[in-house]
Amino acid sequence: GKQAVVVSVNLPADLQGALQERFEVHPVAPGERIEKALAPDVAARIRGVVGTVRTPLDQAFFQSMPAVRVVSNFAVGYDNIDVKAATAANVVVCNTPGVLDAAVADLTLGLILCTGRNLVGLDRFVRDGRWAKGAAPLSYDLMGKSLGLLGMGRIGRMVAERARAFGMKVFYHNRNRQAAAEATGIGYLERDELFRTCDFVSVHVPLTDATRNSIGAREFGMMKPSAIFINTSRGAVVDEPAMIEALKNGTIAGAGLDVFVKEPLDPAASALAGMDNVTLLPHVGSATHETRRAMIDLAVHNLIDVLEGARPGAAVNPEVDHYGTLKERA
Ligand code: GLV
Ligand code: GLV
Repeated sequence: GKQAVVVSVNLPADLQGALQERFEVHPVAPGERIEKALAPDVAARIRGVVGTVRTPLDQAFFQSMPAVRVVSNFAVGYDNIDVKAATAANVVVCNTPGVLDAAVADLTLGLILCTGRNLVGLDRFVRDGRWAKGAAPLSYDLMGKSLGLLGMGRIGRMVAERARAFGMKVFYHNRNRQAAAEATGIGYLERDELFRTCDFVSVHVPLTDATRNSIGAREFGMMKPSAIFINTSRGAVVDEPAMIEALKNGTIAGAGLDVFVKEPLDPAASALAGMDNVTLLPHVGSATHETRRAMIDLAVHNLIDVLEGARPGAAVNPEVDHYGTLKERA
């Protein structure tokens, strides 16, 4: 018979068809725990999963679903997946790098413009009828300002390109020095120096055990009172209460945020929703028609490739190498 797979993301009709042609497809609502949503006899036969970062794929999942050979995330980030447990269970973990870098970089520049030039606040100024009553408040130039990028992967490099077109001076800190980036004129700074000196600090690291809560009171305390903090990565990289404190106290001037510790952000429960010096977006870095289409294509084809015995377009644990052996075992 056909191999059984779980789909925990809304698929366009053509990709739904491509999966149904090949596999027995079991839908599970996005965000639900898959091993609990399925009948035990079905769970025992599932070979692959395509889902979002809202689906926890942890030790408990891999233990209760022994036939799984691939989990394919509809995202570049994979902090919902215990990659060690997956590798130990001989499961290939796939993600969608590359196809969303420009969209996330665009949104990052958007947040820099919203916070520096006060775009959202000035939109409210017009709508509230304040324009007729007096001159609009002045905002700040981007030209000549320094932008510090924490993390210099593909997205960081695209943010740097865009920021330099605005005349910003771009610096970065990364675990490993990036010679190619430095060759284009992006300056390397020690981590503390980046927080201490930059006018904008923007986060482009993945969420891992090493980065969780890694930006807190200590880092905000080092920033200039005029500095603006931008985050389009993952909310949990930041100690959110410490950030809120820093924004309230004027330790930093403002923030542009696309990601939060708890999503969706509840405006009734978060102090951020009442602050004028922050711009809040609903985790939409990659949420354009073109980019989401490219991501879902890659995520679905990653799954198909592995289950048909081919090397997938993007695997995060390539040491799990059983391509070519899966078909026979199916
Ligand atoms: C979105 O946040 C992603 O990781 O792709
Ligand atoms: C991070 O910047 C990445 O795209 O890997």
